[in-house]
Amino acid sequence: MIAPSQAPASGARSCLAIVLAAGEGTRMKSDLPKVLHTIAGRSMLGHAIAALVGAGATDVVVVVGPDRDDVAREAGAAFGKARIVVQRERLGTAHAVLAAREALMEGHDDVVVAFADTPLMTTETFTSMRAAIAGGTHVLAVGFEAADPTGYGRLVMADEGLAAIVEHKDASEAERRIRLCNAGLLALSGPHALDIIARIVNDNAQREYYLTDAVKIARGLGLSAQVLVAPEDEVQGVNDRVQLARAEAAMQKRLRDAAMRAGATLLAPDTVYFSHDTKLGRDVTVEPNVFFGPGVIIEDQAVIHACSHLEGAHVGRKASVGPFARLRPGVDLGEKAKVGNFVEIKAASLGAGAKVSHLSYIGDASVGAGANIGAGTITCNYDGFSKFRTIIGEGAFVGSNSSLVAPVSIAAGAYVGSGTVVTKDVAADSLAVGRARQVEIPGWANQFRARKKALPKV
Ligand code: UD1
Ligand code: CA
Repeated sequence: MIAPSQAPASGARSCLAIVLAAGEGTRMKSDLPKVLHTIAGRSMLGHAIAALVGAGATDVVVVVGPDRDDVAREAGAAFGKARIVVQRERLGTAHAVLAAREALMEGHDDVVVAFADTPLMTTETFTSMRAAIAGGTHVLAVGFEAADPTGYGRLVMADEGLAAIVEHKDASEAERRIRLCNAGLLALSGPHALDIIARIVNDNAQREYYLTDAVKIARGLGLSAQVLVAPEDEVQGVNDRVQLARAEAAMQKRLRDAAMRAGATLLAPDTVYFSHDTKLGRDVTVEPNVFFGPGVIIEDQAVIHACSHLEGAHVGRKASVGPFARLRPGVDLGEKAKVGNFVEIKAASLGAGAKVSHLSYIGDASVGAGANIGAGTITCNYDGFSKFRTIIGEGAFVGSNSSLVAPVSIAAGAYVGSGTVVTKDVAADSLAVGRARQVEIPGWANQFRARKKALPKV
């Protein structure tokens, strides 16, 4: 068996990755194809492709079932140069690989076959697989010690490495006792890959073309086969939503651990939900029950208080968000900016030190450095048809419960009186007040109470 550390580097060798994404079952009970279900905000297919590209795959071919434009689109989004080939009939994993025959003829140094429904595979493991091929192994299977081996292919070892992979349905009693199972993924030497796979026949219990037969065929040709052992949680496949949730949990643990190792403090790590691409700086603090959607970057020393929901947002150094804040896509908070409780911000920037502390909605806006937006301020950015922008200058002070009817601008240093409905631009350093003037009637309350008390009781 091959240990990751023994393997030589794969250097600048060319690598063809073939991702099998066809012929999935119906156990997800979903209108969405299985491989488009997401983990940490990215499709399982996207995870598989990203790990392969991270390991240096120079070409990616995704094998899809008929009429799967949605899967093809997602593959293209994950890797612009991804090619799509269609497997018309589900005749087995080797048959699926042969759908990529043209790519296999291009003369790559190594070929890696991965499953799109195995989303926890890491770049490190794919790198180790490639390194084994670079080191002279012709076929490399990935094995794991299964807690329950039922249903998996078994790895039959010989003195010189891997002798064969036997599918559960074809295995003898003795073979079924083997605990070392086949994860399904395979790496092959590029110059031999097509020759080996094209020789696979379907003489087995399921009448399928088994990719796993690549091992015994390679051995028959005098080539070498080895096993790389990976942790079981990395190779777990997803067939239903219970397994999807299990894979999500494993991925979340990975992301939380990575964030903490990189210098962020998570007060209650198990309650923080990350996206695959969440970036937290050094000495960032995240309080309990925070959700990170895709595209969030938090700079050093910022604090995300409890129960906040962020997506597509950039939070500057030492900024403070929440508790109970919502940052929607297109938010950019400057250094030491503050977004307090029950505040929603969308497509807006806050300059350094700007504050929106309580109960506000700021959308399609730019707020200058040091500006203070009072409690309950709302940007009225939408008239039911179009969105309009609000511009607030540096150091402006917007009194509580103001409505800013966009498009409108409040220039630097201006004041807006509490409760104003701002419909016209406000000049720098001036005061805008737009509310009914207060009226006072002395003694009115006493007269009112006397009148009410004189009425007959009902
Ligand atoms: C496969 C392995 C088995 C291993 C197990 C691990 C083979 C023959 N067997 O079995 O040794 O223990 O994975 O989970 O490879 N696919 C296609 N087209 C097909 C058939 C499959 O694209 O015609 C794709 C599926 O979508 C899936 C993957 O290949 O992503 C694996 O196919 P599946 O039928 O699930 O293989 P297993 O029987 O689980
Ligand atoms: Ca499977």
